[in-house]
Amino acid sequence: MAYDGKLLARARGELENIRRNNRDEMQRRYAEVTARVPEICRIDERLRAHMAQLVRLTIGKGPDLKERLAEIRDENLDLQMRRAELLTEAGFQSDYLDEIVACPLCRDTGMFEGRVCSCLDKLYNRELTKELGTLMRRGDERFENFDLSLYPQTVDPRTGAPQRDTMRMVFDACRRYAEGFSESSPNLLFQGGTGLGKTFLSACIARVVSARGFSVCYDTASAALEYYERAKFSRDLPEGEAAALRIRRMESCGLMILDDLGTEMTTPMAQSALYTLVNSRLVNGRKTIISTNLTNDELSKRYTPQIASRILGEFKTLPFVGEDIRRLRHGG
Ligand SMILES: Nc1ncnc2c1ncn2[C@@H]1O[C@H](COP(=O)(O)OP(=O)(O)O)[C@@H](O)[C@H]1O
Ligand SMILES: [Mg+2]
Ligand SMILES: [Zn+2]
Repeated sequence: MAYDGKLLARARGELENIRRNNRDEMQRRYAEVTARVPEICRIDERLRAHMAQLVRLTIGKGPDLKERLAEIRDENLDLQMRRAELLTEAGFQSDYLDEIVACPLCRDTGMFEGRVCSCLDKLYNRELTKELGTLMRRGDERFENFDLSLYPQTVDPRTGAPQRDTMRMVFDACRRYAEGFSESSPNLLFQGGTGLGKTFLSACIARVVSARGFSVCYDTASAALEYYERAKFSRDLPEGEAAALRIRRMESCGLMILDDLGTEMTTPMAQSALYTLVNSRLVNGRKTIISTNLTNDELSKRYTPQIASRILGEFKTLPFVGEDIRRLRHGG
């Protein structure tokens, strides 16, 4: 998994907040305890003085080094035992003054065995989900808010079924997909006209899948393909670097939602970028949802045979039918 620098920095900031809160709590506890048992303060002063003495002794390497070290160690043990006694006698838990860490693996540093620790990874995914939220314009895209009554009962001549029935099937398939999302899930192609709920349902899926801990990335096709252009033509500029990171994320995230395919410009550059994105995800077994207003014929005409055959062959199609909901709502 590639990390986006900006989001990783935010996740690190979150970890720093956790660390600061724990430090504050440790200080509060220390003040609380020493107000009641001042002797603990003096014991800690002695322990600190011993530390300094130890350092001096080892550097100085005097003739009686061994004996002096043993003396200090014994005295330290006594002091620590006395300290624990005082603590419990005053009614505190014996670990009340110990360091507080949220993650015992990395002790809240975010790094464990030279890699990003699972706790920081979780914070990172949370940032990712937050960002996903801002990409989804309204925030009411949830399965519970999906309104089937917006789809007419009219029989669709192509399927021979009432449009609402088709959309009930699509809705159920999307919900099951989100709830059971895994490495063996299929890729989906949302196909149908404008205003039929393709973006709405992909946002519902994104919300559920990312809440289940998968990394989810959402972009319109035109935005996604522009990143490739920017990465190429602004390679040495900050925006080129940001674009390269974004591309890595689009190519490696658990679920990529590529919205509105067919509205972007068709340049050779865009075609090759689209092929790279779709193909690299297929090769690595990463799941993709593509939504488009284009029919199969239109897809085949617009894109190279390599792209069209990938999309038509490796994606499960969900047909979106009905009447433009945006127009219905605005009384048009
Ligand atoms: N089943 C639904 N229930 C409630 N609102 C919907 C539903 N489908 C779409 N909408 C709303 O209708 C508008 C158009 O839907 P959208 O998902 O953008 O269509 P598409 O992506 O297919 O063009 C959006 O404002 C969306 O929130
Ligand atoms: Mg849309
Ligand atoms: Zn950790």
